[in-house]
Amino acid sequence: MITKPKGCRDIYGNDAKKWKYIEEIVDSVMEKYNYGYIRTPIFESSELFHRGVGATSDIVTKETYDFTDRGERKMTLRPEGTAGVVRSFIENKMYGDANPVKLYYHGTMYRYERPQAGRERELTQFGAEVLGSSDPLIDAEMISLALTIYQMLGFEKVKVKLNSLGDKESRENYREELIKYFSPHINDFCEDCKNRLAKNPLRILDCKVDSENEILKNAPKTIDYLNKESKERFDKVLEYLDILQVEYEVDPRIVRGLDYYSHTVFEFEVDVKELGGQNVIGGGGRYDALCEQLDGPNTPGIGFASGIDRLLFAMECMDIKPPIREGIDLFFLYVSEEEKKYALYLTQELRLNGFVVDTEYTSRSLKAQFKQSERLNAKMIAVLNSEQLDNGDITVKNTKTKEEEIISLDALIYYLDEKLVEEEELEQDCSCGGSCGHCHHPEEEGEA
Ligand code: HAM
Repeated sequence: MITKPKGCRDIYGNDAKKWKYIEEIVDSVMEKYNYGYIRTPIFESSELFHRGVGATSDIVTKETYDFTDRGERKMTLRPEGTAGVVRSFIENKMYGDANPVKLYYHGTMYRYERPQAGRERELTQFGAEVLGSSDPLIDAEMISLALTIYQMLGFEKVKVKLNSLGDKESRENYREELIKYFSPHINDFCEDCKNRLAKNPLRILDCKVDSENEILKNAPKTIDYLNKESKERFDKVLEYLDILQVEYEVDPRIVRGLDYYSHTVFEFEVDVKELGGQNVIGGGGRYDALCEQLDGPNTPGIGFASGIDRLLFAMECMDIKPPIREGIDLFFLYVSEEEKKYALYLTQELRLNGFVVDTEYTSRSLKAQFKQSERLNAKMIAVLNSEQLDNGDITVKNTKTKEEEIISLDALIYYLDEKLVEEEELEQDCSCGGSCGHCHHPEEEGEA
C-alpha cells in the first residue's frame, strides 16, 4: 500500500469542516481589518528563500524541500509565506497601489522537521503582511489582528510575548556583545550553536538543545542594546497595545527563527502541555529590510503567521469546539422506481431551499438504507411511498424522538424549517441531562 509521506495528513470528515471553519473566521476578520487575499505559488526559486528567510536560518539550512525542475532550475517548496508575498509585491509593483498594502493568505508550507504533536512537514498557515508603513501603530494592529482571530476561535487565554531587535545599528551592537559574551563558553554549547556564533549569534538564544544552559539564560538582552530611536519606537508599540487593551509580556528571549526581522518581534503562546515545546500558535514581526534585500524598493514590512494544524490540536486539547454542522437534515428512503423519481425530485427541491438532504444511490434494501441514514446522522427521514405521494402527502419521521407526521407535500418546506429550528433550540437550551428524549447529550449517550 502506498502511504502518505511522513509529517503529512489527510484532512477529511469533521476535521475538514473544522479546517474550513478556521479559514472562514480568518477570512471574515481579515476583511474587517481591510486585508486583501493573496495566493502565491507553492514553490518558488530557491534563491528567494536563501536571500529572504536567510541562508543561516535553520529553516533554509536544514528544513527546505529543494528540487531541480526539468529545466535545471533550483526550486524550493515554500517553507513560509512572507518571502513569496514580498516577491509578489515587488514583481507586481504593488508599491504603486494605495499605501500601505495589506495582504493575507492561507496555504500549505513545507518544512523537513521531526514530526510530533503540532509539528508537521506539510503545515498550513494563515498569515498577514503589511508593506509600506513603519508606523508603530501597524505593529500594534498586527498583534491585535491575530488576537482577534484567536478570540473569535474561542481561545480565552493567549499569551502575547514581544521583544524588539531594534534597527540595524542596534542589532550590530547587540551582535558584537553576544559574540563577546558567548565566546569564552562556546565549547559548552551544541555543534549548531558553535557554528551560529560567528554567523548568527542571535540564533543561539532560541536554541532548543541549549535552552536550559545558565549561560544562555543570563545572556545580554536585546532591549538593553537598542539605540534611542529603536527604544522610542518600541515604547510607542507598547503604548498603542495599551490603548488596544492588549495584555503582553516583554520577553527578551523572543528573537524568532527567521533572519529577516528587525524592531518588533512577537509570539502567541497557549498553555497546552500536550504540545510540549510547540505551544507557540503564531508569531511574526517587522522586516524593514526584506523588500530591498529582494531587489525591491526600500519598503518597511510587518506580518505574522499561525499554523492551522497546531491551532486545531490546541483547540482539541483545550476543549474548544468549533461549531461545525454534524449530520444532515433529511434522508429519503425508497424502494420502487416511481419512488426513486420522487426522491430525485424532492432531494433537489429541498437542497435548493437550503436544506442538507441526501438519498439512496445504490438501490439497497430498506434495512440498509435505514443504516445509511444513521451513519449520515440524519435528523429526519422519510420512507417514500408512491401511493401517498400521488395523493400529495409524505410521512416524515424525527430520528431522535421517533415521532412521525403525515404532512402535505406543499407544506414540507415550512414544516422542516419549523421542526429543525425547534430541534436546534432544544439542543442548545435543554438542561434535562439527557432524560427528555428530545435533546442531544453526547456524554450521556457514551459518544463523547
Ligand atoms: P514561524 O514562526 O516560522 O513564522 O511560523 C509561524 C507559525 O506557523 C508558528 O507559530 C506555528 O504555529 C506554525 N508552524 C511553524 N512550523 C510548523 C510546523 N512544522 N508544523 C505545524 N505548525 C507550524 C513564519 O512562518 C513567518 N513567515 C511569520 C511572519 C509573517 N513573520 C512576518 N510575517
